[in-house]
Amino acid sequence: MFKLAPSILAADFSRLGEEVSGIEKAGAHLIHFDVMDGHFVPNITFGAGIMKSLYGKSNLPFDVHLMVENPDRFIEAFVTDSTEYITVHQEACPNIHRTINHIKSFGVKAGVAINPGTSLSALDYILSEIDLVLIMSVDPGYGGQSFIAFSLDKIRRIAETRKTSGLDFEIEVDGGVTLDNVDHLVSAGADIIVAGNSVFAGGKIEENVKLFLKR
Ligand code: DX5
Ligand code: ZN
Repeated sequence: MFKLAPSILAADFSRLGEEVSGIEKAGAHLIHFDVMDGHFVPNITFGAGIMKSLYGKSNLPFDVHLMVENPDRFIEAFVTDSTEYITVHQEACPNIHRTINHIKSFGVKAGVAINPGTSLSALDYILSEIDLVLIMSVDPGYGGQSFIAFSLDKIRRIAETRKTSGLDFEIEVDGGVTLDNVDHLVSAGADIIVAGNSVFAGGKIEENVKLFLKR
């Protein structure tokens, strides 16, 4: 069984609280917050304030995905006692080892994301320090994109590395996940599935969550 982390980027922000209640009621495990600064990725989304507007309104843990340059500046702002994961991009962190320890110093699980074009070997020296590897299966910046097929090989390979190394980091897959490809991702080793449009588009939120959890 995998954990489902719907991305609120695809939600109706005029009804965000209701939509989050819907995913929670239907059994989702996490809320995925896609934070974008318009520099590291060509889009701007929201800051800690939007995340904190949901604090106390949901029992779901927060899964924060920082797609920002120099994320060290923002980590503390996203720490609440609902924040379970803070994930930074390997490509955005010149001192990634220090950044990981900064996240963990708040008692929050540290995740590192790699973009489709980034090799898994970029994680070699930090795998033993992190709680989560986020495999981007789209180029970051937007929801509703198509799954990049070679991401499946990356998921298989990082899962194999986890097995042979005896490490216990979780594997999260993010971008273009649908009911048609989710089984392959989970069989390949994914533990946490991010889904934006395939949960929130079309307004059948609870139904979509339940369809995912039936897989
Ligand atoms: C993309 C984000 C993803 C995206 C997922 O930069 O990190 O979380 O919003 O949305 P879908 O599932 O619609 O691709
Ligand atoms: Zn994301």
